[in-house]
Amino acid sequence: MLPTLIAPSILACDFARFGEEAAAAEQAGGDWLHVDVMDGHFVDNISFGPDVVAALRKHTKFPLDVHLMISRPDHYFPRFVDAGADRITVHVEAQHDVSKTLAGIRAAGCGAGLCLNPPTPFSAAEPFLDQIDLLLVMTVNPGFGGQKFMRECLSKVSAGADRRMHEGFSFHLEVDGGINVETAAEARQAGANVFVAGTSFFGKADYAAAVRALRGDSIG
Ligand code: DX5
Ligand code: ZN
Repeated sequence: MLPTLIAPSILACDFARFGEEAAAAEQAGGDWLHVDVMDGHFVDNISFGPDVVAALRKHTKFPLDVHLMISRPDHYFPRFVDAGADRITVHVEAQHDVSKTLAGIRAAGCGAGLCLNPPTPFSAAEPFLDQIDLLLVMTVNPGFGGQKFMRECLSKVSAGADRRMHEGFSFHLEVDGGINVETAAEARQAGANVFVAGTSFFGKADYAAAVRALRGDSIG
């Protein structure tokens, strides 16, 4: 049984206060800090790059869960390793040799994650299940926070949970996009154990209460 982990997404924080927001998320009881890197090419938005990750690293001991929404993750992932990432997740849809990138991330001492966009079938991840520490199932089309949860993506979470149980894999199953108390409960039912929360964390006045609610510890 994998632990339930809450990963506040820094994309939803006040960008003028990265350090304070990361520290507050850690204090509030979050487990990982989810860091969304967007290149304006793979997705229609630009967020931040390795220098921001390195700056965050100086302010927090939080595990940094770096989600690369970029076209050439093979070219850029070493810079995120150097910046202090703990886990690096790449998209199966990006332009790279997926197996080689995953192996490179692990060889660099980081956890390797693979991500599926909503239109991408579970079968696209199947060849790589023995190479990953995390399977990230997008529950919105990536690029922006605050979008509506796409329930139809949960069948991929169930498929991943099924393969994990029957074939002895131990990868985390993470969901990202539109996660709130209700949708986290649905995703948990499907087998997810890591819950990325942007709006439903940084959009709340009481971060600690938000973490407890997402974890299912209390109502609110
Ligand atoms: C979306 C990003 C998400 C985003 C989630 O492209 O990958 O991590 O921060 O934001 P919410 O939780 O607001 O849907
Ligand atoms: Zn993300």
